[in-house]
Amino acid sequence: MNVHDDGHRDSIAENPPRALKIAVAGKGGVGKTTLTSLLAGHFVGLGRPVLAIDADPSPCLGSALGFPAEKLERLVPLTEMDHLIAERTGTSVDGGSGAFFKLNPRVSDLPDRLSQVHNGVRLLLLGAVQQGGGGCFCPASAVLQQLVRHVMLARDEVVLLDLYAGVEHLGRATADSVDVMLVVAEPSQRSLKTVAQIKRLASDIGVTNLLFVGNKVSSTEDLQFFSDNAPDLPVAGFLDTSELAIQADRSGSSLYSIDRALATSVAQIANRAEESCLNKVSIAS
Ligand SMILES: Nc1ncnc2c1ncn2[C@@H]1O[C@H](COP(=O)(O)OP(=O)(O)OP(=O)(O)O)[C@@H](O)[C@H]1O
Ligand SMILES: [Mg+2]
Repeated sequence: MNVHDDGHRDSIAENPPRALKIAVAGKGGVGKTTLTSLLAGHFVGLGRPVLAIDADPSPCLGSALGFPAEKLERLVPLTEMDHLIAERTGTSVDGGSGAFFKLNPRVSDLPDRLSQVHNGVRLLLLGAVQQGGGGCFCPASAVLQQLVRHVMLARDEVVLLDLYAGVEHLGRATADSVDVMLVVAEPSQRSLKTVAQIKRLASDIGVTNLLFVGNKVSSTEDLQFFSDNAPDLPVAGFLDTSELAIQADRSGSSLYSIDRALATSVAQIANRAEESCLNKVSIAS
């Protein structure tokens, strides 16, 4: 593992680019949703517009962001909007449309129409659908893929994509517009194995800028474990195990708002992520 130097940090602070597309990946339960919510809190604190996308079939990002129950109830995952999907793809809700449907449905109005906003964060739920590879390609997945592509290419915001388990929400066509993928792990061999798998899958679909985030750090042994065992990736930073996580969960508040130490650590992760995008541009140009 190698840690970025402090390179372009000052220029980012003075003149932050508006749009930034961050995907968050990692094994189940390592803290993807927690990291996504912390990043959202950080960027909102900087006055930047944030669109958070929950790709988990049983969505949790809203509660991690402290969304109140009435807003969560109004959020319907895209893939459950049968009438909308039928309308946009030229099919019928009962599936009696035959084999043909529009592959490039209109989606540009959907991020604003289907989302809810709380404390400056706009939240959109994708819902469950088999994606990519050998998975199904049905009207719902056509709308979903088009929506993710649109958001990644056209939205002028900080987009945070909580990728749930794998990277399958990112097709090849979309991968290119991911500025940085943060791969999260906890100090366990299994979660580091998943980091290595994600590294391969991400490279297969063309995501080139990956940074490692070590979460649930409780001791210097944990840090040493990461340093000895993590796959070779640049490090964005580490997050300590927070004693306030349970309290945030039970009170329905965001961890960012109650844990100042994590807020500080995530600021460093966000800065390194953004800095790596500048490096990416300069390497590419
Ligand atoms: N730094 C931390 N300190 C304490 N608890 C944490 C930390 N990060 C995550 N957790 C806890 O670990 C559990 C899993 O976290 P989270 O839901 O963010 O993981 P995930 O990767 O999104 O999981 P899933 O794959 O199920 O979506 C939660 O109970 C969360 O509160
Ligand atoms: Mg999650």
